[in-house]
Amino acid sequence: MNTSSALSAAPSSAVPHRVLSGIRATGRLHLGNYLGALKGMIELERRPEYQTFYMVADVHTVTTPYDVEELRHNRREIIIDYLAAGLDPEQSTLFIQSMVPEHLELAFYLASVSSVARMQHLPTFKDKVKQHPQHVTLALLNYPVLMAADILIYKATQVPVGIDQQPHLEVAREIARKMNQQYGTDFPEPQRFVTPGEYVPSLKGEGKMSKSVEGSYINLTDTLAEIEEKLKRVPSDSGRGERPPETGGAATLLKLVELFQGQEARQAYEAAYTGEGIRYAQLKSDLAEAVYQQVRPIQQRRAQLEAAPASVDQVIEAGAAKARQVASQTLEEVKYKLGLG
Ligand code: TYM
Repeated sequence: MNTSSALSAAPSSAVPHRVLSGIRATGRLHLGNYLGALKGMIELERRPEYQTFYMVADVHTVTTPYDVEELRHNRREIIIDYLAAGLDPEQSTLFIQSMVPEHLELAFYLASVSSVARMQHLPTFKDKVKQHPQHVTLALLNYPVLMAADILIYKATQVPVGIDQQPHLEVAREIARKMNQQYGTDFPEPQRFVTPGEYVPSLKGEGKMSKSVEGSYINLTDTLAEIEEKLKRVPSDSGRGERPPETGGAATLLKLVELFQGQEARQAYEAAYTGEGIRYAQLKSDLAEAVYQQVRPIQQRRAQLEAAPASVDQVIEAGAAKARQVASQTLEEVKYKLGLG
């Protein structure tokens, strides 16, 4: 697998290396989005050698059935989430994808080196076909090509995303290679920036935490009581055995302990599992508190931002203008190489 590590060395060149990531505008963020994407985004923003671009993927939201008014609302909400989670608009360009139409134009040119069969075989495409069999559209098929355009238009080398996005990054690398071979462009091959929370499992004990699976997630906006309630419902086991659990709700709980209370806390529970046994009621109550301690400051900043809509509008306008400067330059270069300028 072609990934970079959170611990990997910084790029040596003096040219700033760019980072691009995005989150679809489908509603409230959950702990998977936070640990798999946002934490990596924040970490890279704080490294001076990187120029960071973080967008709301509102155009991608249109590739599956959605509610128009909800989308209008949610695209702004994700910008608020970015700010509340600690991203700094002075350091990062925070923007809404549809306000930078250059992404869509580049996606069309990238589609000229992308095969239909390759897109049809992606696991993410197959999942969506199963979920929405009546909505298998060209826009859905084109999803990974638009995502490649999002990344390549900034010539980004690092993409902080969860492991579920790996197949899309492979497509982006292939497209970069083909464009460079066929047209002589200079797209770097983007790498996934890996965080310890690259795969946050579902509270149901099967699969990943996901917005589309009810009961699988804890939202960043949940209260302590809601977090406690959700954790209480996680299926557990007897609490004792020869080896610590690797699947099911008990494994989810241990992973969340690791992510929110640290590796040592996890090891202590693992030792208890093979010894005197785990008391899940206590584990869940301590874990709920630890999760809440991390999300509470985000909730507090969110409340402040909701009370200052003009400052959020200003971030959105400035972000689009900054993103367009870079995006339009790449687009000009590509059009020239393709014989369109
Ligand atoms: P989306 O909106 O599904 O998810 C946003 C981010 O959250 C991560 N994530 C998780 N990470 C760990 N464990 C989980 N259970 C979990 N669930 C979600 C995702 O990996 C992602 O990083 N295609 C993208 C949006 C996109 C994009 C881009 C991303 C559009 N263009 C360009 C990067 C670069 C998506 O659907 O993310």
